[in-house]
Amino acid sequence: MRDLIVIDDLSNQEIEHIFRIADDMANVISTGSPKLCGGKILATLFYEPSTRTRLSFESAMIRLGGSVIGFAEPNSSSVAKGETLADTARVVSEYADIIVIRHPLAGAARVMADYSETPVINGGDGSHQHPTQTLYDLYTINKHLGRISGLKVGLCGDLKFGRTVHSLSYALARFGAEIICISPKGLELPDHVLQRLEIKYKHKVTYSDKLEDVIGDIDVLYMTRIQKERLPDDIDYNSVAGKFIINKELMAKAKNQMIILHPLPRVDEIAYELDNDQRAFYFRQSAYGVRVRMAITAVALDVLKIPSTGLEPSARFVSVKKRCVNPRCVTNHEHYLAHKFEVISDLPPLLACAYCGEKPVDET
Ligand code: NCD
Repeated sequence: MRDLIVIDDLSNQEIEHIFRIADDMANVISTGSPKLCGGKILATLFYEPSTRTRLSFESAMIRLGGSVIGFAEPNSSSVAKGETLADTARVVSEYADIIVIRHPLAGAARVMADYSETPVINGGDGSHQHPTQTLYDLYTINKHLGRISGLKVGLCGDLKFGRTVHSLSYALARFGAEIICISPKGLELPDHVLQRLEIKYKHKVTYSDKLEDVIGDIDVLYMTRIQKERLPDDIDYNSVAGKFIINKELMAKAKNQMIILHPLPRVDEIAYELDNDQRAFYFRQSAYGVRVRMAITAVALDVLKIPSTGLEPSARFVSVKKRCVNPRCVTNHEHYLAHKFEVISDLPPLLACAYCGEKPVDET
């Protein structure tokens, strides 16, 4: 692995190797040695707010013996002067050995990777994907339920603008879990995500209107907040917020072994009264972020090696005279970029933007 931009950059076997390395990293954390990444520098370029992703990557690198540079406030960097992602990538990749980027535009991490000399990790790009979050979501499920395959996973909340559920749904489909979606009207999984799930992974999700209808049947409940900052003007936050709240009363109907996950931050979708429930796993999940990000960092830096298996079939890209339909795609903002599309299938013909996964439209 060089860059980690989308979850499909890793095969299932590679993900399982990362889980094993993460288990070893738990020992490195408790013993304080060995310093695998001594002398290496991680740059965290955060163009959007973050607590967990930035701090856990920084903690991971420091625990590996390396150092950290970067910014969490883009207005303190040359972005404020209009610098492009491509130029920032060229410059920062000379200062650091590995870069983690978070950005409000979908596809921004891909641009950084294309222009960087050093490995780039996507720490969340718009509503697109959040692959390192997915890795420790999966790690938590696998560690506590012993498998991913065959589990019933409820994805609840903002499935449209939440990037964590996009990368997670692809991984769950690839590992053979069953996906049940529970979301406010208008915030369902986007069509391009459903199409990729159906055509590429042969996976059909099911929907439920009510948490109470599925709570007794699922093994994992993955809660998410409404992505208030990404809602378009035609969706009123108050009309979609507070629709799905998991509380003690509902949990009384859940299995004893069921686990509740959340990428955090939570707003009001998990009642505080559940924090001491043995099935509340979200804080443990967020703690696992450090060991998993240590594993990812060490592998991306080639300090630790995993057998490279690649995905079958590997992605195919084409350049066509079309642009991406998504107004929040980086290709519609940074105009030096050429529009490029991934061939999801030849028959039926289906193309997805190579940067953000959405559909092509004719250039106007
Ligand atoms: C998530 C994100 O940024 O996508 N947070 C995180 O990294 N744990 C989830 C969110 O902001 O809702």
